[in-house]
Amino acid sequence: MPDSSPFPTNFLWGAATSAYQIEGSPLADGAGPSIWHEFAHTPSRVRNGDTGDVACDHYHRYRDDVALMAELGLNAYRFSVSWSRVLPTGRGPLNPRGLDFYQRLVDALLERGIEPMLTLYHWDLPAALDRLGGWLNPDSAHWFADYAQVLFRALDDRVKLWVTLNEPWVVVDGGYLHGVLAPGQRNPYAAPLAAHQLLRAHAAATQCYRAEGRHQIGLVVNLEPKYPATETVADLDATMRADAYWNRYYLDPVFLGGYPPELADIFGPAWPDFTADDLDALRQPPDFLGINYYSRQVVRHDPSDWPLAAARVRQPRNTHTTLDWEVYPQGLTDILEWVASRYGPLPLYITENGAAFYDPPQAEGPIADPLRQRYLHDHLRAALAALRQGVDLRGYFAWSLLDNFEWGHGFTPRFGLIHVDYATQQRTCKASARFYAEVIRSHGSHLIDV
Ligand code: FCB
Repeated sequence: MPDSSPFPTNFLWGAATSAYQIEGSPLADGAGPSIWHEFAHTPSRVRNGDTGDVACDHYHRYRDDVALMAELGLNAYRFSVSWSRVLPTGRGPLNPRGLDFYQRLVDALLERGIEPMLTLYHWDLPAALDRLGGWLNPDSAHWFADYAQVLFRALDDRVKLWVTLNEPWVVVDGGYLHGVLAPGQRNPYAAPLAAHQLLRAHAAATQCYRAEGRHQIGLVVNLEPKYPATETVADLDATMRADAYWNRYYLDPVFLGGYPPELADIFGPAWPDFTADDLDALRQPPDFLGINYYSRQVVRHDPSDWPLAAARVRQPRNTHTTLDWEVYPQGLTDILEWVASRYGPLPLYITENGAAFYDPPQAEGPIADPLRQRYLHDHLRAALAALRQGVDLRGYFAWSLLDNFEWGHGFTPRFGLIHVDYATQQRTCKASARFYAEVIRSHGSHLIDV
């Protein structure tokens, strides 16, 4: 290994996707509807009325997509399983044809030497379970563990990296507090209860895996470092509140067995009285942690911001993506070091990192995406900086392999390394994909040279 490339030899170079965002055919072959299917089919919930009915048609084109991964030299791929394909009503009868899709996908990956990282829950709860209260129902932890067990038994012989939940923060903040994501609730009393059941679900599935799994199980969280806009007490306090809510909410319980104290102030009367036993039961440290990193927040106290009173101060000198997310690579180094010092040492993966910048809907020839390429370059360098500081970073997954259905924003923002023409389903590698392939081929040395 050249000196200039400190990436460990077994470093995973991957890309990530999720089921509802790419698969299409959400009701095919006996699958049941998910909350995202219903949400997208509810008028005015998703921009342009876009839905995941077809998306990237990955359900039928997965072999071609795996071939593209191999062409780029990826040695890992993170995807999620649609719960309601496997168990159409969330519990009870198995749908063998749904499960079979994931068996075939995993086999296709392994044939190409691509390590699967399987996420059990990337936001698409079976609609039948939502009718029973979804993540507000205390039984949801058991529903989830039973579902997880079906997957463990079917695939643990081939899948070595398991993820329980993707970004519980987003599930709760978007789905139960602000109502902008499925299931669309806007209720401060519901949010902390949903968070608690999600954490119980993580614990239950992890325990189940410890009993019968042979490899590793982890959790994926979205983290966003918080920096105070000024040194005033008000801004420093707001920064702590934002940090508690965004970064420590789901990690403190899992690693330390308690919620950050700031949450009781943030939620006020809506904060439940958890008992010591409730909290103890959440302490279920994962074998590894996945971190999704996109941006940072410069924070200032602002009473009009609900419920945190902590507003984002836009940094006009820095580049912003089409979703107006500030590009700030240093934040990735900072957050990796923070996680390692607060909860570590433990194996870490960057399970998502990427940017939406404008690309044309049709690809006529190669697609130049210099801003995305620069984003990738700078964030890989930031990851390298953390590695050099001794962080146990085991892999990097770009978000996303393909342009796809970006939730409430529909298909407008394009995050892919590979362009998708939604009219023809044609895939075209963007320049950022070629750049990433070169980084992988040179085992990171290319990052130093350009
Ligand atoms: C993350 C999600 C992923 C994608 C990216 C842009 O929060 O996990 O599905 O939407 O953001």
